[in-house]
Amino acid sequence: MKIALEVKNLQVLYGEKHVVHDINLKFPANQITALIGASGSGKSTVLRSLNRMNDDLATVQGTIDFHGININQPQVNVYRVRQQIGMVFQQPTPFPLSIYENVIYGLRLAGEKDKQVLSQRAEESLRQAALWDEVKDQLNESALALSGGQQQRLCIARTLAVRPEIILMDEPTSALDPVSTSQIEDTLVQLKEEFTIIMVTHNMQQASRAADWTAFMHQGNLIEFDKTATIFMNPREQKTADYLSGKFG
Ligand SMILES: Nc1ncnc2c1ncn2[C@@H]1O[C@H](COP(=O)(O)OP(=O)(O)O)[C@@H](O)[C@H]1O
Ligand SMILES: [Mg+2]
Repeated sequence: MKIALEVKNLQVLYGEKHVVHDINLKFPANQITALIGASGSGKSTVLRSLNRMNDDLATVQGTIDFHGININQPQVNVYRVRQQIGMVFQQPTPFPLSIYENVIYGLRLAGEKDKQVLSQRAEESLRQAALWDEVKDQLNESALALSGGQQQRLCIARTLAVRPEIILMDEPTSALDPVSTSQIEDTLVQLKEEFTIIMVTHNMQQASRAADWTAFMHQGNLIEFDKTATIFMNPREQKTADYLSGKFG
């Protein structure tokens, strides 16, 4: 199986506080991997470490191997890492700009000026994010007028527009209603044909519906990583079974 990203001996500290302990994980390419675990177990910390979003917050030790390069090194260009490993946050974060300008924001930053390239990429990304049909006649209107679910799909389109290989998502539907949540889950399943998705979720149904692989974290440790069906139906570790049956968390 092709691996998109490999984490070796990942440790994260906030000041003196050691919150992620020696994690080793291989994220399969063109698959969806869910990170699950109780609040405070370190899911977001791990996720943010994968594209250097913890640089200013925490000490991140260990290797993050991307195409044979350890991207967790100061000399590696963070901006380029984030072009290849994009992030979608929990709260939709549209900019106070038009729908169109939101989608092509990263391309403009990267210096793309060709209008045809920009508009093609905008349409392609909005289609991939399953938003095109709803917004194609209002591309020049403010993104802030969209519903929460539409705003989140817009943020997904904005991330896709720079053509990353990997998309990190931190509880991408937790601020959304059930209909928007299921639209986004359907979108993710389509996207994995082209992208590798790593998603934090505290929603077990979401992990079991959408993820191919699931990693269970507890108190900063990776307890178990396996195919989602195995984690949910036949976990190896007692802690995993206890968490899934609601004994804690
Ligand atoms: N910026 C920060 N500064 C200090 N401690 C933090 C910070 N962010 C998270 N933590 C702590 O790190 C631990 C893991 O948090 P987090 O990664 O957010 O967990 P999760 O996403 O699983 O809820 C928690 O104890 C949390 O309080
Ligand atoms: Mg979190």
